[in-house]
Amino acid sequence: MIHIRALCKQYGSQAVLRGIDLDVPAGQFLVVLGPSGAGKSTLLRCINGLVQASSGQLQVAGFDATDSRARQVRQLRREVAMIFQHHNVVPRLSVLKNTLTGRLGHVSTLASMLQLFSRRDVALAMECLRRVELDHKADQRTDALSGGQRQRVGIARALAQQPQVILADEPVASLDPKTSRLVLHYLRAASRELGITVICNLHQVDYAREFGDRIVGLAGGQLVFDGSGDALDEHHLNRIYGAPEQAATPTPVTTASSTLSPSLQGALP
Ligand SMILES: Nc1ncnc2c1ncn2[C@@H]1O[C@H](COP(=O)(O)OP(=O)(O)OP(=O)(O)O)[C@@H](O)[C@H]1O
Ligand SMILES: [Mg+2]
Repeated sequence: MIHIRALCKQYGSQAVLRGIDLDVPAGQFLVVLGPSGAGKSTLLRCINGLVQASSGQLQVAGFDATDSRARQVRQLRREVAMIFQHHNVVPRLSVLKNTLTGRLGHVSTLASMLQLFSRRDVALAMECLRRVELDHKADQRTDALSGGQRQRVGIARALAQQPQVILADEPVASLDPKTSRLVLHYLRAASRELGITVICNLHQVDYAREFGDRIVGLAGGQLVFDGSGDALDEHHLNRIYGAPEQAATPTPVTTASSTLSPSLQGALP
Protein backbone atom coordinates (compact mmCIF):
# COMPACT_ATOMS: atom_id res chain seq x y z
CA MET A 1 0.00 0.00 0.00
CA ILE A 2 2.86 2.34 0.86
CA HIS A 3 6.29 2.06 -0.70
CA ILE A 4 9.00 4.47 0.39
CA ARG A 5 12.59 4.48 -0.81
CA ALA A 6 15.43 6.84 0.12
CA LEU A 7 12.96 9.51 1.16
CA CYS A 8 14.61 12.78 2.13
CA LYS A 9 13.10 16.06 3.22
CA GLN A 10 15.04 19.22 3.88
CA TYR A 11 13.86 22.53 5.21
CA GLY A 12 16.53 24.94 4.05
CA SER A 13 19.79 23.42 5.24
CA GLN A 14 18.06 21.24 7.87
CA ALA A 15 17.71 17.58 6.85
CA VAL A 16 14.52 16.40 8.58
CA LEU A 17 14.06 13.02 6.85
CA ARG A 18 17.33 11.36 5.89
CA GLY A 19 16.84 8.36 3.65
CA ILE A 20 13.69 6.57 4.83
CA ASP A 21 12.99 3.10 3.37
CA LEU A 22 9.64 1.66 4.40
CA ASP A 23 7.03 -0.68 2.95
CA VAL A 24 3.64 -0.90 4.60
CA PRO A 25 1.29 -3.67 3.44
CA ALA A 26 -2.45 -3.10 3.11
CA GLY A 27 -4.38 -3.36 6.37
CA GLN A 28 -1.38 -2.99 8.67
CA PHE A 29 -1.59 -0.88 11.81
CA LEU A 30 1.83 0.73 11.95
CA VAL A 31 2.90 2.89 14.88
CA VAL A 32 5.68 5.45 14.48
CA LEU A 33 7.57 6.30 17.66
CA GLY A 34 10.28 8.91 18.05
CA PRO A 35 11.33 11.90 20.10
CA SER A 36 10.01 15.37 19.41
CA GLY A 37 11.55 16.71 16.21
CA ALA A 38 12.43 13.23 14.89
CA GLY A 39 10.40 13.86 11.73
CA LYS A 40 7.24 11.84 12.45
CA SER A 41 4.78 14.51 11.37
CA THR A 42 6.91 15.40 8.37
CA LEU A 43 6.83 11.75 7.28
CA LEU A 44 3.01 11.67 7.45
CA ARG A 45 2.78 15.00 5.60
CA CYS A 46 4.98 13.65 2.82
CA ILE A 47 2.77 10.55 2.54
CA ASN A 48 -0.38 12.58 1.95
CA GLY A 49 1.33 15.12 -0.29
CA LEU A 50 0.93 18.01 2.15
CA VAL A 51 4.69 18.39 2.11
CA GLN A 52 6.83 17.88 -0.97
CA ALA A 53 9.68 15.41 -0.49
CA SER A 54 13.13 16.74 -1.44
CA SER A 55 14.14 13.40 -3.00
CA GLY A 56 13.31 9.72 -3.02
CA GLN A 57 10.40 7.53 -4.06
CA LEU A 58 7.01 7.56 -2.42
CA GLN A 59 4.11 5.50 -3.70
CA VAL A 60 0.85 5.54 -1.78
CA ALA A 61 -2.24 3.56 -2.78
CA GLY A 62 -0.94 3.33 -6.31
CA PHE A 63 -0.21 7.06 -6.60
CA ASP A 64 3.12 8.81 -6.82
CA ALA A 65 3.01 11.05 -3.75
CA THR A 66 5.98 13.07 -4.99
CA ASP A 67 3.89 14.27 -7.94
CA SER A 68 2.82 17.80 -7.04
CA ARG A 69 0.38 18.36 -9.91
CA ALA A 70 -2.95 19.46 -8.44
CA ARG A 71 -4.96 16.64 -9.98
CA GLN A 72 -2.56 13.98 -8.71
CA VAL A 73 -2.55 15.49 -5.23
CA ARG A 74 -6.38 15.55 -5.20
CA GLN A 75 -6.56 11.90 -6.21
CA LEU A 76 -4.02 10.93 -3.57
CA ARG A 77 -5.84 12.84 -0.83
CA ARG A 78 -9.08 11.04 -1.65
CA GLU A 79 -7.36 7.79 -0.67
CA VAL A 80 -5.57 9.14 2.38
CA ALA A 81 -7.48 10.47 5.40
CA MET A 82 -5.80 12.43 8.20
CA ILE A 83 -6.55 12.51 11.90
CA PHE A 84 -4.82 15.11 14.04
CA GLN A 85 -4.16 15.64 17.73
CA HIS A 86 -6.67 18.44 17.96
CA HIS A 87 -9.58 16.62 16.30
CA ASN A 88 -10.10 19.35 13.73
CA VAL A 89 -13.87 19.10 13.72
CA VAL A 90 -16.11 22.15 13.24
CA PRO A 91 -17.51 22.74 16.76
CA ARG A 92 -20.80 24.41 15.82
CA LEU A 93 -21.76 21.77 13.26
CA SER A 94 -23.62 18.64 14.23
CA VAL A 95 -21.79 15.37 14.68
CA LEU A 96 -23.41 14.05 11.49
CA LYS A 97 -22.43 17.09 9.41
CA ASN A 98 -18.86 16.88 10.63
CA THR A 99 -18.79 13.23 9.60
CA LEU A 100 -20.28 14.11 6.22
CA THR A 101 -17.41 16.48 5.49
CA GLY A 102 -15.35 13.33 5.03
CA ARG A 103 -17.24 12.81 1.77
CA LEU A 104 -15.57 15.78 0.17
CA GLY A 105 -11.96 16.22 -0.70
CA HIS A 106 -12.15 19.96 -0.74
CA VAL A 107 -14.95 22.52 -0.54
CA SER A 108 -15.02 26.24 -1.15
CA THR A 109 -17.72 27.18 1.33
CA LEU A 110 -19.61 25.31 3.97
CA ALA A 111 -22.96 26.40 2.51
CA SER A 112 -22.28 24.90 -0.89
CA MET A 113 -20.85 21.84 0.72
CA LEU A 114 -23.87 21.08 2.82
CA GLN A 115 -26.13 20.87 -0.21
CA LEU A 116 -24.04 18.20 -1.83
CA PHE A 117 -24.77 15.27 0.41
CA SER A 118 -26.92 12.49 -0.97
CA ARG A 119 -29.02 10.11 1.10
CA ARG A 120 -26.36 7.52 0.42
CA ASP A 121 -23.72 9.78 1.91
CA VAL A 122 -25.88 10.32 4.99
CA ALA A 123 -26.41 6.56 5.39
CA LEU A 124 -22.67 5.99 5.07
CA ALA A 125 -21.89 8.73 7.60
CA MET A 126 -24.35 7.15 10.04
CA GLU A 127 -22.69 3.78 9.54
CA CYS A 128 -19.30 5.37 10.29
CA LEU A 129 -20.71 6.97 13.45
CA ARG A 130 -22.01 3.56 14.48
CA ARG A 131 -18.49 2.19 14.15
CA VAL A 132 -17.27 4.65 16.76
CA GLU A 133 -20.50 4.25 18.77
CA LEU A 134 -21.63 7.82 18.35
CA ASP A 135 -24.63 7.38 16.07
CA HIS A 136 -26.93 8.34 18.95
CA LYS A 137 -25.19 11.75 19.04
CA ALA A 138 -25.58 12.42 15.31
CA ASP A 139 -27.82 15.47 15.73
CA GLN A 140 -25.92 17.05 18.61
CA ARG A 141 -23.62 19.98 18.11
CA THR A 142 -20.05 18.76 18.18
CA ASP A 143 -19.03 21.37 20.76
CA ALA A 144 -21.30 19.56 23.24
CA LEU A 145 -19.01 16.51 23.07
CA SER A 146 -15.96 15.65 25.15
CA GLY A 147 -12.48 15.72 23.62
CA GLY A 148 -12.47 11.94 23.27
CA GLN A 149 -15.86 11.94 21.59
CA ARG A 150 -14.71 14.67 19.18
CA GLN A 151 -11.71 12.56 18.30
CA ARG A 152 -14.11 9.69 17.56
CA VAL A 153 -16.04 12.03 15.27
CA GLY A 154 -12.68 12.69 13.58
CA ILE A 155 -12.30 8.95 13.05
CA ALA A 156 -15.86 8.66 11.73
CA ARG A 157 -15.16 11.47 9.28
CA ALA A 158 -11.96 9.76 8.16
CA LEU A 159 -13.92 6.51 7.64
CA ALA A 160 -16.64 8.35 5.72
CA GLN A 161 -13.96 9.32 3.23
CA GLN A 162 -13.61 5.58 2.50
CA PRO A 163 -9.84 5.92 2.27
CA GLN A 164 -7.31 3.19 1.72
CA VAL A 165 -4.96 4.81 4.21
CA ILE A 166 -5.50 6.68 7.48
CA LEU A 167 -2.66 8.80 8.85
CA ALA A 168 -3.11 9.67 12.51
CA ASP A 169 -0.72 12.25 13.96
CA GLU A 170 -0.71 11.88 17.75
CA PRO A 171 -4.45 11.23 17.85
CA VAL A 172 -4.50 10.66 21.62
CA ALA A 173 -2.00 13.27 22.77
CA SER A 174 -4.52 15.27 24.79
CA LEU A 175 -6.75 12.45 26.07
CA ASP A 176 -6.86 10.53 29.33
CA PRO A 177 -5.61 6.90 29.30
CA LYS A 178 -9.02 5.24 29.13
CA THR A 179 -10.23 7.50 26.33
CA SER A 180 -6.91 7.14 24.51
CA ARG A 181 -7.24 3.37 24.46
CA LEU A 182 -10.82 3.64 23.21
CA VAL A 183 -9.77 5.93 20.34
CA LEU A 184 -6.90 3.59 19.41
CA HIS A 185 -9.29 0.65 19.61
CA TYR A 186 -11.55 2.26 16.97
CA LEU A 187 -8.56 3.03 14.79
CA ARG A 188 -7.32 -0.53 14.99
CA ALA A 189 -10.82 -1.79 14.25
CA ALA A 190 -10.70 0.28 11.06
CA SER A 191 -7.63 -1.62 9.96
CA ARG A 192 -8.85 -5.03 11.11
CA GLU A 193 -12.43 -4.85 9.87
CA LEU A 194 -12.15 -2.55 6.85
CA GLY A 195 -8.62 -3.39 5.74
CA ILE A 196 -7.54 0.23 5.98
CA THR A 197 -3.80 0.80 6.34
CA VAL A 198 -3.19 2.96 9.40
CA ILE A 199 -0.02 4.83 10.26
CA CYS A 200 -0.22 6.31 13.71
CA ASN A 201 2.35 8.61 15.33
CA LEU A 202 2.46 8.13 19.08
CA HIS A 203 4.50 9.25 22.05
CA GLN A 204 3.26 6.44 24.29
CA VAL A 205 5.36 3.29 24.04
CA ASP A 206 2.77 1.23 25.94
CA TYR A 207 0.03 2.05 23.43
CA ALA A 208 2.42 1.34 20.57
CA ARG A 209 3.04 -2.14 21.97
CA GLU A 210 -0.61 -2.77 22.68
CA PHE A 211 -2.09 -1.59 19.39
CA GLY A 212 0.62 -1.69 16.75
CA ASP A 213 0.94 -4.67 14.41
CA ARG A 214 4.37 -3.21 13.84
CA ILE A 215 6.39 -0.36 15.26
CA VAL A 216 9.01 1.78 13.58
CA GLY A 217 11.29 4.11 15.49
CA LEU A 218 12.44 7.41 14.01
CA ALA A 219 15.39 9.35 15.39
CA GLY A 220 17.04 12.29 13.73
CA GLY A 221 15.14 11.65 10.49
CA GLN A 222 16.26 8.02 10.16
CA LEU A 223 14.60 4.69 10.90
CA VAL A 224 16.42 3.14 13.84
CA PHE A 225 13.94 0.39 14.70
CA ASP A 226 11.51 -1.74 12.72
CA GLY A 227 9.81 -4.63 14.42
CA SER A 228 7.10 -5.94 16.71
CA GLY A 229 6.13 -4.58 20.10
CA ASP A 230 7.73 -7.62 21.72
CA ALA A 231 11.07 -6.84 20.10
CA LEU A 232 11.03 -3.27 21.36
CA ASP A 233 13.17 -3.70 24.45
CA GLU A 234 15.07 -1.12 26.46
CA HIS A 235 18.07 -1.28 24.16
CA HIS A 236 15.92 -0.39 21.17
CA LEU A 237 14.09 2.30 23.12
CA ASN A 238 17.45 3.88 23.90
CA ARG A 239 18.25 3.88 20.21
CA ILE A 240 15.02 5.67 19.50
CA TYR A 241 14.88 8.11 22.37
CA GLY A 242 18.55 8.14 23.51
CA ALA A 243 20.22 11.28 24.75
CA PRO A 244 19.62 14.36 22.56
CA GLU A 245 23.16 14.23 21.15
CA GLN A 246 22.63 10.55 20.21
CA ALA A 247 19.37 11.39 18.52
CA ALA A 248 21.17 13.88 16.31
CA THR A 249 23.44 11.15 14.93
CA PRO A 250 21.41 7.94 15.13
CA THR A 251 22.95 4.53 14.86
CA PRO A 252 21.88 2.38 11.91
CA VAL A 253 18.56 0.61 11.98
CA THR A 254 18.25 -2.51 14.13
CA THR A 255 16.53 -5.45 12.54
CA ALA A 256 13.97 -6.84 14.94
CA SER A 257 11.72 -8.79 12.61
CA SER A 258 11.25 -9.93 9.07
CA THR A 259 9.14 -6.81 8.41
CA LEU A 260 12.32 -4.88 7.70
CA SER A 261 12.53 -3.97 4.06
CA PRO A 262 15.28 -5.57 1.99
CA SER A 263 16.89 -2.24 1.20
CA LEU A 264 16.99 -1.48 4.89
CA GLN A 265 18.71 -4.78 5.56
CA GLY A 266 21.18 -3.82 2.88
CA ALA A 267 21.95 -0.68 4.86
CA LEU A 268 23.12 -2.70 7.83
CA PRO A 269 26.83 -2.72 8.49
N1 LIG B 1 7.37 23.76 7.80
C1 LIG B 1 8.56 23.62 8.39
N2 LIG B 1 9.55 24.49 8.14
C2 LIG B 1 10.75 24.37 8.71
N3 LIG B 1 11.08 23.36 9.56
C3 LIG B 1 10.14 22.46 9.85
C4 LIG B 1 8.83 22.53 9.28
N4 LIG B 1 8.11 21.48 9.74
C5 LIG B 1 8.92 20.80 10.56
N5 LIG B 1 10.15 21.38 10.63
C6 LIG B 1 11.28 20.90 11.44
O1 LIG B 1 11.48 19.54 11.11
C7 LIG B 1 11.85 18.79 12.27
C8 LIG B 1 10.91 17.62 12.43
O2 LIG B 1 9.61 18.10 12.71
P1 LIG B 1 8.36 17.14 12.87
O3 LIG B 1 7.19 18.02 13.17
O4 LIG B 1 8.26 16.24 11.70
O5 LIG B 1 8.78 16.30 14.17
P2 LIG B 1 7.92 15.30 15.02
O6 LIG B 1 8.69 14.03 15.12
O7 LIG B 1 6.54 15.21 14.50
O8 LIG B 1 7.92 16.00 16.46
P3 LIG B 1 6.75 16.04 17.57
O9 LIG B 1 6.84 14.73 18.31
O10 LIG B 1 7.16 17.20 18.46
O11 LIG B 1 5.45 16.27 16.90
C9 LIG B 1 11.81 19.79 13.43
O12 LIG B 1 13.12 20.20 13.68
C10 LIG B 1 10.99 20.92 12.91
O13 LIG B 1 11.36 22.13 13.49
MG1 LIG C 1 4.67 15.71 15.21
